[in-house]
Amino acid sequence: MTKKINIAIDGYSSCGKGTLAKVIAKSLNYIFIDTGAMYRAVTYAMIQKGIDVNNLVELEELLKSLNITFKHLPEGDFYHTFLNGEDIENDIRTMPVSNLVSQVSKIQIVRDFLVKQQQEIGAQKGVVMDGRDIGTVVFPDAELKIFMTAKAEIRAQRRLNELKENGNLNISFEEVLKNLNERDYIDSNRENSPLLKAQDAIVIDNSELSKAEQNELALSFAHKAIENA
Ligand code: DC
Repeated sequence: MTKKINIAIDGYSSCGKGTLAKVIAKSLNYIFIDTGAMYRAVTYAMIQKGIDVNNLVELEELLKSLNITFKHLPEGDFYHTFLNGEDIENDIRTMPVSNLVSQVSKIQIVRDFLVKQQQEIGAQKGVVMDGRDIGTVVFPDAELKIFMTAKAEIRAQRRLNELKENGNLNISFEEVLKNLNERDYIDSNRENSPLLKAQDAIVIDNSELSKAEQNELALSFAHKAIENA
């Protein structure tokens, strides 16, 4: 029987980590986990309850009441995030959540709460997880680590297209680019688990790569890592 491994995919906002992670997971029949969606779910819950990022007492109480799950229907490419049983996939992709999520993901009690769940999911192996600290903090022993990047303007255009496809028509390119640059800055400079390339991660810059080229490259790394495991 082939050995199952864990695959960590880290990198900047909107550089296609999730898309690539899903392709790899589908091809290997592994579980895909979008950890950004988990930070977004906590942010969404805080906005819903009106909890300020500085109110750690209320935040701690809130975390105890949160149950974040994913529902995956591979045939339709349906991959939705649920919070306490409610489908929040669209809510967590809106600008109010995007504008606050980097502030929320700086908070150590939020990171501890989510990292513990991520490590529990990974204990069984056969997981492709995308985020910012997967190769450095969540799975420092992952058998394959990929660090993805692309030019900010290219990422902003891709994100804008995605938002428009989902019906968010009143957003400008400049607004999306500004949000991306701000998130990149906060994610890379925060004290707790900043976005960092793990020393043993393979870098993929997909600014000039087609999706097919990128998938082929990443899958070849994955097959090699499984062989060597
Ligand atoms: O991948 P994304 O853009 O949906 O992530 C949303 C935010 O969550 C991002 O600004 C940084 C944060 N995040 C994090 O701090 N650690 C992770 N493992 C994943 C996301």
